[in-house]
Amino acid sequence: MQLIDGKRTATIIKEEVAAEITALQEKGAKIPHLVAVLVGSNGASITYVNAKIEACRKVGMHSTIVRLNDTVSEKELLEKVEELNKDKGVDGFIVQLPLPKHISEKKVTEAISPKKDVDGFHPSNIGKMMLNLPTFLPATPYGIVQLMERYNIETTGKHCVVVGRSSIVGSPIANLMSRNSYPGNCTVTLTHSRTVNLAEITRSADILIVALGKPEFITADMVKEGVVVFDVGITRKADKTKKSGYKLFGDVKFEEVAEKSSFITPVPGGVGPMTIVSLLKNTILAAKGKVE
Ligand code: GUN
Repeated sequence: MQLIDGKRTATIIKEEVAAEITALQEKGAKIPHLVAVLVGSNGASITYVNAKIEACRKVGMHSTIVRLNDTVSEKELLEKVEELNKDKGVDGFIVQLPLPKHISEKKVTEAISPKKDVDGFHPSNIGKMMLNLPTFLPATPYGIVQLMERYNIETTGKHCVVVGRSSIVGSPIANLMSRNSYPGNCTVTLTHSRTVNLAEITRSADILIVALGKPEFITADMVKEGVVVFDVGITRKADKTKKSGYKLFGDVKFEEVAEKSSFITPVPGGVGPMTIVSLLKNTILAAKGKVE
């Protein structure tokens, strides 16, 4: 079994991004600028946004947080989005989700200019991804394909089983794995809550990507020998023995599944650290005007 070390890979890619930014600086080109819009005071959202901003600082990219009160109206937020769309000093921006209930996430996502949509959530960018046109890939699927590239995971002709059909992980990664490119050229099965005989299907997977949000759902009897496993799940459970007060669990029962796997991502330290790297890479693409 070989561990796919997302933390280490993310560190290496951040060094590459930092070198790219230094090169831009030396050429006298503009330094990419990412803006994160944070509405309200959801603890997890604050942590995520701070981590994104800190990553920008570390690689030498400009970044700004726009904090709005959770009483902000949908109209005011849409006006802010429009202002950022027009601001020539902003290359890419994200609006951290979830948003307060009185604001439509769909309306806000669709209001972001596709050229600045470094989350890759805009319908036109999702359409481009489906057509294999240059675009911003959503952070988690992009993180998974970068891990496949770095670890030279063979994908052509393999059976890739995706568990979970969310619009930000399961559905896009299923699409990417079926594309006529590397990583890709897989025969893909996208499974979900209504799938019958799930274990039979997961047992036939050469590559198993699990994005379900159910801790330790995938057990050893659900996989075959030699499987390559990407575990996207990350659930916090209270644990008094930990300094943080909680322990993190993936969707895969790691110890027993690892014994049968050829490659596997741990939780934490697997897919998670790669998502911020994806955002940094997308912001560089935006600054270079590589996505129309
Ligand atoms: N909330 C959880 N993950 C994400 C993400 O990748 N982007 C945004 N905008 N919000 C999120």
